[in-house]
Amino acid sequence: MGLLLGLDVGTSGCKAVLIAPDGGVRAEATAEYPMAVPRPGWAEQDPEDWWQATIASIRQVLESVGGESISGIGLTGQMHGLVLLDEVGNVLRPCIMWNDQRTAAQCAEIEEKVGRARLIELAGKPALTGFTAGKLLWVRENELDIYRRARHMLLPKDYVRYRLTGTLAMDVADGSGTLLMDVRRRVWSDEVLNLLDVPREWLPPLSECHEVVAQVSGEAASATGLRAGTPVVAGAGDQAAQSIGTGIAQEGAVSVTIGTSGVVFAATNQYRFDPSGELHAYCHAVPDTWHLMGVTLSAGGSLRWFRDALCESEKAEAQRTGRDVYDIITELAATAPAGSDGLLFLPYLTGERTPHADPNARGVFFGLSLKHTKAHMARAVLEGVTFSLRECLDMLCQTLGTGTVFLGGKPCQSLAQICRRLRVSGGGSRSAFWRQMMADAFRTEIVEVNVTQGAAYGAALLAGVGTGVYPNAEQACEQTVHETGSTEPGPSAGTYAGAYERYRALYPALAFEFRRGATGEKTAH
Ligand code: XUL
Repeated sequence: MGLLLGLDVGTSGCKAVLIAPDGGVRAEATAEYPMAVPRPGWAEQDPEDWWQATIASIRQVLESVGGESISGIGLTGQMHGLVLLDEVGNVLRPCIMWNDQRTAAQCAEIEEKVGRARLIELAGKPALTGFTAGKLLWVRENELDIYRRARHMLLPKDYVRYRLTGTLAMDVADGSGTLLMDVRRRVWSDEVLNLLDVPREWLPPLSECHEVVAQVSGEAASATGLRAGTPVVAGAGDQAAQSIGTGIAQEGAVSVTIGTSGVVFAATNQYRFDPSGELHAYCHAVPDTWHLMGVTLSAGGSLRWFRDALCESEKAEAQRTGRDVYDIITELAATAPAGSDGLLFLPYLTGERTPHADPNARGVFFGLSLKHTKAHMARAVLEGVTFSLRECLDMLCQTLGTGTVFLGGKPCQSLAQICRRLRVSGGGSRSAFWRQMMADAFRTEIVEVNVTQGAAYGAALLAGVGTGVYPNAEQACEQTVHETGSTEPGPSAGTYAGAYERYRALYPALAFEFRRGATGEKTAH
């Protein structure tokens, strides 16, 4: 049996991972690309950069094995981004990304037209700035010329699939982040499309994530070194694929992922949605399963900001010694005490999605005094992200435990119990210091798995399901993903409990000022 290739069109780069059917990683490579911030709160990328990075990363993993040894390809990537193509497949404008916050007015319009409660029931979530539909309306209202020339709408990884195969396709997991699907039925929602006046023919056909939907084209084969005709499965948005790569295929486990964003994720065997709209429901990457999740928009992204804004000397040290700059920053953070001597950080650098759905929120250091050093600030950033994830987790456990999230079913007490043991993944989970911080601040056992390639690995497993290497996603996970270690809450749990209470009080106290600040940001342009 051949090798499986997973491609993750991420926020900062495209990662390619090559795995053998037994799950062993044969090669991995990443090629980076930039993100433009044309205005505060906006975020855009050039789809051509994704494609060039995809070519570079595929070429690199194929250095040791030929393209003919690949038997299936799975795609995953950053979710929600709007890619518009004209009639002949040309990109009409840069992608408006998942972390772009420009669409508050369009979100209000969507909730008014569809009705907030109905939208949550159908699409699994309220209209928030991250999701795709608002971006489409924004283009219609602000760039009518471009809107008029549009004929196709894709998500980021689906654009890369288009370049790889010439086929327009989308999976139900990523599709459920657009607001345009009937998530329970796993189809496009004619009701939402009609109410928002979005042309149905712009949307690609939807498939289950493991289904083969296309083959590598001759042109892409010459560009990448792959074999023309290699099957490509539908794949999934990065969160669903990540959870497959963490072994979460069915109801019964909860995961926390720290990448650029931070995600608390629970798979469910029925369609369950949160009527309050705080947690968001999606199709999972396994047929007949769904998932609920809460998202901290700037998790690893906050640490990256801290690195770039304040850590020149740590970067220089990393260059000099060949060490990872994040290890150096984390070691610095560890020299400050738990609770950072009262310093708090709110990680809302790109607005927030859960628990405060607020595009106007911004990052805050609170409580700085003369005694605080850069080490305190580094630790406060890690703690702030951890507290934000704790808020998502609390919400998930409470809503599941009290049974407020369901559709005619029974309360999910067992799921609330499961929140006591969390599988972690993503770059942030590689740090033992951060894992201990999570165990302490969440008061849960934090469990690691052998797979560190996350979403790209999950996409490769989906390719294996679609091409018959594994009978289904559950078996694929069982055969390849194993627990490798765990961290129990330690003595700092008490300190964090107090700091968390102070942290939680800050957003309500600042919400009004965030709104006022946003007006200031707009008038500055
Ligand atoms: C998920 C989300 C992010 C992006 C980027 O809803 O917005 O996780 O997919 O990773």
